[in-house]
Amino acid sequence: MKTKPRCIVAPSLLSANFSRVGEDVLEIGKTSAQWIHLDVMDGHFVPNITFGPKFISDIRPLTPLVLDTHLMIEHPDRYITHFAKAGSDIITVHSEAAVHLHRVLQAIHDEGKQAGVSIVPSTPVASLEVILSDVELVLVMSVDPGFGGQKFIPSALEKIRQLAEIRQTNRLNYRIAVDGGVNETTFRQILDAKADVLVVGSAFFGAKDKQKLVSLMQGQE
Ligand code: DX5
Ligand code: ZN
Repeated sequence: MKTKPRCIVAPSLLSANFSRVGEDVLEIGKTSAQWIHLDVMDGHFVPNITFGPKFISDIRPLTPLVLDTHLMIEHPDRYITHFAKAGSDIITVHSEAAVHLHRVLQAIHDEGKQAGVSIVPSTPVASLEVILSDVELVLVMSVDPGFGGQKFIPSALEKIRQLAEIRQTNRLNYRIAVDGGVNETTFRQILDAKADVLVVGSAFFGAKDKQKLVSLMQGQE
């Protein structure tokens, strides 16, 4: 019998082919990946533009998987209701984009959704300490957000270790997710640092055998 997966794998649709995204969603569903990661970009907070709530509500009926929505947008407070109604299960906002972060996290919880907070590579973990008891997910960016296919920035590893230590010391429950440059070479050190969720974009969609990659990451090979 297979053991419990050692991590959650969240393929990122950013690396899918948007002209046949429904098929790509179904393809993720054929693997043992547990979440689908959705990168919302506004061309302001990050230098790229992707999709909005309609894209997510169109995908929602195609999959029972957890829709993990990563908002790389300014003024996230204005859009929480829209992304909640579209069917997101987890809504993650950037600490750098939300001045009143506590209020935004509260708004996500008021919609009955799990709340996540994300930090870019130049933001220290220390800036999050006061709100760590208010989130279900901390998303550590291991590339500068905006594009798939970038190289993993190793300083993310120390942030994961710090977050794991704070969680243990304070008996908190958030999951630690890592996003950017996660592939078959980098994932082991990320899991060793005690991350729980691997966001995988280009490595997943570039893999010949997607299930093999997911199994390898989940420790089920
Ligand atoms: C980047 C996005 C990521 C992206 C990761 O700004 O937040 O989710 O899809 O892509 P890879 O895995 O190719 O680095
Ligand atoms: Zn992302």
